Amino acid sequence: MNTKVTKIAVMTSGGDAPGMNAAVRAVVRACIYNNIECMGIMRGYQGLIENELIPLDSRSVRNTISRGGTFLQSARSKEFRTPEGRAKAFENFKANGLDALVVIGGDGSFTGGMIFNKEHGVPVIGIPGTIDNDIYGTQFTLGYDTALNTVVEAIDKIRDTASSHNRLFFIEVMGRDAGFIALNAGIGAGAEEILIPEENLGIERLIESLETSKKSGKTSSIVVVAEGDKTGKGVFELKDYVEKNMPEYDVRVSVLGHMQRGGSPSCFDRVLAGRLGVKAVDLLIEGKSNLMVGINNNEITATDLEKAVKLHHDINKNLLRVADILSI
Ligand code: F6P
Repeated sequence: MNTKVTKIAVMTSGGDAPGMNAAVRAVVRACIYNNIECMGIMRGYQGLIENELIPLDSRSVRNTISRGGTFLQSARSKEFRTPEGRAKAFENFKANGLDALVVIGGDGSFTGGMIFNKEHGVPVIGIPGTIDNDIYGTQFTLGYDTALNTVVEAIDKIRDTASSHNRLFFIEVMGRDAGFIALNAGIGAGAEEILIPEENLGIERLIESLETSKKSGKTSSIVVVAEGDKTGKGVFELKDYVEKNMPEYDVRVSVLGHMQRGGSPSCFDRVLAGRLGVKAVDLLIEGKSNLMVGINNNEITATDLEKAVKLHHDINKNLLRVADILSI
């Protein structure tokens, strides 16, 4: 074992995601297993600037595996984007006797980590945590599986009322600029149409598809729309357009919003969090830095943080075909 690493800090940063607590727990316990001290940084980079750190021992993470959100809390720090902010953060980092950092978050958080490493030489490992699943270098980000299950459960409920009233629902889901949640939850919930930013087929195609659905005997429909989709200017405009062109439809809109970010993590996310947290500590012990841990074909992998930030995680276009076939 390389004994250089003696004290590791862990933080959660950016939008929270189910499974972040489980990942913190894994980092803490992997540290203790390897006789390394661990500290938690509150509110991401902002907490480091304000020297808000807490010691974490194995009991301090008890009963956290099933909790949603992040007990370390999260923030998007503007101050850390400045060299002065980062210098303050580094002073506190040193004063606490820390020698490595694990950042659980998305690409913005990883960019901050890379700059911190470049300016101050702090070894940094990233753990991808975001419901959007939009990070290159991992097939699954923490929280994505839980969010999919949350969305499917919500759509199932909307389906009940949609079919009772013969209504058409536009359901907006999160995902920022990516359509992972919309596409996979849409297939899982049997949506008639799925609109994602990666594939803009135009509003006319939507009308055609709804007409085909109607002719095939469907009396209610669910259209899942990713928040980043560009078919219209959002779900409310889509509703207006369809009402104008297909007055026979009684249309409703449901924006699922932040409920998609909450809740107890799924078993998949808990196991993933455990595997990623252990690997992050292993890499730091090996003297590695500037890497993001991820999961690919069920193996835990390490990808350069720079690639994780710059490259694009593409959706599987074959899923669009599957969605089309299943919705006839
Ligand atoms: O990145 C996670 C996410 O929930 C996105 O899906 C969404 O666009 C964004 O964060 C919302 O951010 P906020 O919580 O700041 O409104």
